[in-house]
Amino acid sequence: MQSIGIDAMAIAVPEGYLELRDLAEARGVPPAKYVDGLGVVRMAVAAPHEDPVALAADAVRRVLDLGEIDPSTIGLCIVGTETAVDHSKPIAAYLHRLAGLPDRCRVYEAKHACFGGTAGLMTAVDWIASGSARGRKALVVCSDIARYGVKSAGEPTQGAGAVAMIISTNPRLVALEPGVTGSFARDVDDFWRPLYSKDAVVDGKHSVQCYLDALIGAYEAYVEAAREAGIDPDAVVRRCYHVPYGKMARKAHRALLAHRGHTEDEADARFADDVGSSLHFSAEIGNVYTGSLYLALASMLEAEARVLEGERIGLFSYGSGCCAEMFAGRVQQGAAAIVEKLALGAPLASRRALTIPEYEAIRAADAEIDRRPPSEPPVASVAARRVAFTGVEAER
Ligand code: CAA
Repeated sequence: MQSIGIDAMAIAVPEGYLELRDLAEARGVPPAKYVDGLGVVRMAVAAPHEDPVALAADAVRRVLDLGEIDPSTIGLCIVGTETAVDHSKPIAAYLHRLAGLPDRCRVYEAKHACFGGTAGLMTAVDWIASGSARGRKALVVCSDIARYGVKSAGEPTQGAGAVAMIISTNPRLVALEPGVTGSFARDVDDFWRPLYSKDAVVDGKHSVQCYLDALIGAYEAYVEAAREAGIDPDAVVRRCYHVPYGKMARKAHRALLAHRGHTEDEADARFADDVGSSLHFSAEIGNVYTGSLYLALASMLEAEARVLEGERIGLFSYGSGCCAEMFAGRVQQGAAAIVEKLALGAPLASRRALTIPEYEAIRAADAEIDRRPPSEPPVASVAARRVAFTGVEAER
């Protein structure tokens, strides 16, 4: 049987970021609370022209160019987002034009908080495994701007960015295990965003507990699915988690290992080896919602693809509300050379630190972003046209 999985990936981030130490100072909070307590160093801040379409287009442009993917081979494009730009027209429709995807292509958006990207990935894998793809590839894109109220507890856990992934047979990066996943769902009120609001509403402490409950639920479902398939569920050398902020991954690892009979000290002692390399990008970018797990995977591959070639990695996706999924993938031989070509971390090199007044001005203008006469084209399409397909070689 042919393997199916992630053939290429790329990330995109806004140009501006905020140093969390500066934010801590402005809010009268000890910087150690953000940096050590939450595990965040910087957070990406999207300017008005850097909406989720523009970020998605940038990530797609990179993955097609650097991954040397012919757009005409794409037959399915799913965008996972919880910060869509329109209630009807999906971001995938903009990408269809911007990326030059063929007319014979299914394009749509998937929403379930941060789980939307994983919903897209699972659908893409099943689409290929079922035979419906007929040799074509899928493009799965996660794009979001994470916003909480200024001066709220969630403020230091904001961020913005996109991850684009090509899903195909004989993938060059990570082969997944179709059908061998553990999902978990429950109707909970931990985090949501009413239609009238740009900012998420969150019951922070409750959201952490919901995440951890879903982790154990998904793990138990995964154990059953893996054993049915004759796979050792715990035979993974690394784990990537959904990362709303770095400390959450540590809490997740503790909870998972405690469930398997380990102490908190044992989990902490293993954390740097098991999970550490997945957190470099998120420490620089913050929460990217749907793309968070895949940003963690990109970070891990960028840091240590060569030593991980041939090894299995555990993956955990969580979307508030809630839906979660645990699955695994094997890093492919030759992945390190592809990772190098993809220049996964390059977008982080050309950013600019914002001052607190600049950041606050951007946030103050957020509410106005979507208010435009219906006859005008969406801000998104204008911004994306500017960034799309201008060539990435010059940036490297
Ligand atoms: N030095 C070092 N550490 C310090 C410190 C200091 N001076 N002061 C506080 N801390 C530590 C605290 O001990 C705490 O650590 P532990 O969690 O290990 O106990 C940590 O800093 C955070 O401090 P608080 O407990 O006081 O938490 P808070 O009231 O500031 O809120 C939060 C934290 C709940 C995460 C809040 O930022 C929030 O609501 N964020 C948005 C929601 C979120 O990200 N939820 C995650 C699960 S839901 C999900 O994953 C989906 C998603 O993407 C949103």
